[in-house]
Amino acid sequence: MEFQDWSNGDEIKRQAQQISWDDFFGMGKSDKTIFLNNSRTRNPFHVLFSQQFNRRILDLICQVAEKAREIRKDRRDGRRFLRDLLFDVHALNFFAQPSSRTFLSFGTAQKYLGMDREDIRDPSISSEAKGESWFDSVRTFSAYADLLVLRHFDKDAVEKAAWVLNKSDRRIPVINGGSGPDQHPTQALLDIYTLYRAFGGKIDGKTIAMVGDLARGRTVRSLAYLMKNYEDMQLVFVAPERLKMKVDIKSFLLRHNIPFYETDDLREVIGEVDATYMTRIQDEHDKGGKKDEPAPVDPRFQFKFEYLDLMREHAVILHPLPKRDEIDLRVDDCGDPRVAYWDQERNGVYTRLALIATIFEKEQEILNF
Ligand code: CP
Repeated sequence: MEFQDWSNGDEIKRQAQQISWDDFFGMGKSDKTIFLNNSRTRNPFHVLFSQQFNRRILDLICQVAEKAREIRKDRRDGRRFLRDLLFDVHALNFFAQPSSRTFLSFGTAQKYLGMDREDIRDPSISSEAKGESWFDSVRTFSAYADLLVLRHFDKDAVEKAAWVLNKSDRRIPVINGGSGPDQHPTQALLDIYTLYRAFGGKIDGKTIAMVGDLARGRTVRSLAYLMKNYEDMQLVFVAPERLKMKVDIKSFLLRHNIPFYETDDLREVIGEVDATYMTRIQDEHDKGGKKDEPAPVDPRFQFKFEYLDLMREHAVILHPLPKRDEIDLRVDDCGDPRVAYWDQERNGVYTRLALIATIFEKEQEILNF
């Protein structure tokens, strides 16, 4: 598959090929977006961070995801139609950090779209282990693939990949599947799609509590950035002192007039919010990656079973997962429709399918099916 997309963008292409890594890295996120988006459709080509997304694209992704879900219910013609869409596209999924959901849902979405795929989950067996630079590794990946999905402990690995591919004659799209403690934009997209489904397409005007490890949680960081695309949103940050949301996100919210406040007790706010986004305390960062027995979660940041009685009738509980003890186990299978995190996992397949289809300009075919 040859898919370069520099159409109508010759000047952008020239600039992208000349810019140094240091200059590219130093640019603001919004200035960088012209080098990442499709210059004709204005949709993302590389997907690196949440700031690339506007309301039009978010609504489009939700609509395409919803339509693809419906198409797959037609087990014969619908599934065959989807499988024919990208049969000539070969994906390489390079996951240098552990993953269940992101890895499996990308793979499932690729399968639904008829794509071929190659997976690398152990970087110690690729030639980086022999001292190859990351830039050279990425160029090498692009020789054998048409799409690169990356999860990496280096928060800048995906930007480096997009920069080097923009200069190459095999400019294949790169999707960030989680970049260190920084961003997880496709998780944020599936969170938005989950809210879209939970609230009948109406996300505007909602208040979302984000709970737990907000300092190191890339999912909450990416979701917070997306809030600027919706009207009258409010955020409540519920975190221990040392794990509070970082100043870069707070400054962003202030610049975009998105009100937020902070508390250290979930019980105080559980009855006032429309969505509660629980997260795990990421104590692996405290131990340099060593796995000790995790400390029990502080009860002030735990979703207790009785909170179901305090929640608003229409409110939902989300969690990017994996989880430990931050949600009472009895909540998992209580049958309350407000427990949305199992659906959220499944929504990842359709969101990632919609995103890949949009990158390869197949979204209208899906919508018109
Ligand atoms: N939510 C999430 O990124 O899960 P995995 O780490 O299992 O991919």
